[in-house]
Amino acid sequence: MTKTAQLIIDGKTIELPIVEGTLGDRALDITRLRADTGFITYDPGYVNTGPCKSAITFVDGENGILRYRGYPIEQIADRGSFTETAWLLIFGQLPTRDQLSRFSAGLCAEELLHEDLRHHFEGFPPNGHPMAMLSAIINSLGCYHPDLLEIESRGEFYLAASKIISKVRTIAAFSYRKSMGLPFMYPNPALSYCRNFLHMMFSIPNRPYDPSPEAVRALSLFLTLHADHEQNCSCSTVRMVGSTQANLFASVSSGICALWGRLHGGANAGVVEMLEHIRDGESSPREVLEMVKQKKFRLMGFGHRIYKNFDPRAKILKRAAHDLLLKLGKLDELMDIAMELEQLALADPYFVERKLYPNVDFYSGIILRALNIPVQMFPVMFAIGRMPGWIAHWYEEHLETTKIHRPRQVYTGQVLRDYVPIDER
Ligand code: ACO
Repeated sequence: MTKTAQLIIDGKTIELPIVEGTLGDRALDITRLRADTGFITYDPGYVNTGPCKSAITFVDGENGILRYRGYPIEQIADRGSFTETAWLLIFGQLPTRDQLSRFSAGLCAEELLHEDLRHHFEGFPPNGHPMAMLSAIINSLGCYHPDLLEIESRGEFYLAASKIISKVRTIAAFSYRKSMGLPFMYPNPALSYCRNFLHMMFSIPNRPYDPSPEAVRALSLFLTLHADHEQNCSCSTVRMVGSTQANLFASVSSGICALWGRLHGGANAGVVEMLEHIRDGESSPREVLEMVKQKKFRLMGFGHRIYKNFDPRAKILKRAAHDLLLKLGKLDELMDIAMELEQLALADPYFVERKLYPNVDFYSGIILRALNIPVQMFPVMFAIGRMPGWIAHWYEEHLETTKIHRPRQVYTGQVLRDYVPIDER
C-alpha cells in the first residue's frame, strides 16, 4: 500500500503519496496539489524539489557518498577508465571486454569533424572563449546528422551518444588551438581517448606530443570524477531542454552553457585565480578568508548544495594531484597554498557552522595545470567529463518522462493597468 502524508490546508486534509527511492530517499508527491487545493509549492533554487526519479547516480551529501549506477566512486576512480565509466552511466552496466572494445573503436571512428563544421571555428574571434565555441559547435553538430535529431531506437541513441562523446574532445581541442592561433591537429585513431585529446591539444606538425602514462591516467581520472552528479544545474538544464523533445545535440549544448557559470563548472578556474592571487602576494590565505567571511566574495571550490560533509571527489582529487606532481617531478606552489587554505577554512567556525568543505573544483585545477591545460579550458575539461552524464540523463528523460518541465511561479507584479499612449506617459 502506498504510504501517504497528510497536509491540512484551509481546514481541508489531503493525502500526499510518499515516493521512496531504493536507498531511503523520500519525497512527497505533490502532482495533484494545485488541482486539489489551489496551492503550488514555493522553492527558490529548487532546494527541495525532485523533478524526476533517476536510476543513474546516487549522492548522499550527509555521508559523503557518491555512486554511479550503484558502484562507489572510489572503486571506479581506482580501477575504471573514463570510457568504461561513460558506458556504465549511459547503459547502466559495466561493459564486457567486447562491449568496451567496440565502444572504443566506435569513438575512434567518430573522432573527425565534417570539414564544413571545422570551418565554423573561423567565424570566432581569436580570443573567443572555448566554452562559447564548444556549445555552439556541439549544437551545430546536429545539422550534420539530421537522421539523429529524432531518436527512435536504441541503435540511433548509441550512434548519437558515441558521436558526441568522441567529437566533444576534438571540438574542445580545436577550440584551444583556435584561441592560440595554432594549426588544428587531427585526431589519431591509434591513440586512446585521453591520449588522443592530449595529442590534439599539444602536438605540433611533425612533433607529436608524447604524454607520460601518469598524465594520461590523471586525465582519465579527472574526466571520470566529473562524469555525473545527478540533478545539478547543468544536468537539470539538459533534462529540461530534453523534456521539450529537443534533440540530444541541442540539449547537451544547453548543459555546456549552464556549466559555464562561476558557481558551477566555472568554479575550478576561479579557484586557480584565487590561489594565484595569494601566490602573487596580493592577499594572504588568512586575508582571503576574512574577505570571504565579510561576504566580499565566496571561497571558490568550497561548499556544495548537496554535500554537507566532505565531497568524495575532492578527497580523491587531492591525493591524485599530490601523486601526479610527484610522478611528473613538478612543483606547484598552488598545491601548498590550497592545502593551507583548506586547513585554515576547516578550522574556522564560519565554514564549520555552514558545513562548507572543499568540492570537486578545489583541487582539480592543480591536476589540469600539471597537464599544461590553460585556465580558460578548465570548464571545457569539465564539460568533456560531464558529457556521458548529460547524455544518460537526456535518455532517461526521453524514455521515461512524458511531461514538459514547466514550473509555476508566485506572481508579484502589477495587478492591472490600462495601456497609456506614448504621448501621455
Ligand atoms: N564561500 C563562502 N561562503 C559560502 C560558500 C563559499 N564557497 N558557499 C556557501 N557559503 C555560505 C553562504 O554565504 C551562506 O551563508 P549565510 O547562511 O550566512 O547566508 C551559506 O553558506 C549557505 O550558502 P548557499 O548559497 O545557500 O548554498 P547553496 O547550496 O545555494 O550554494 C554553492 C552552493 C553555489 C556551490 C556555493 O557553496 C558556492 O557558491 N560555492 C563556491 C562556488 C563553487 O565552488 N562552485 C562549485 C560547486 S560544485 C560544482 O558545481 C561542480
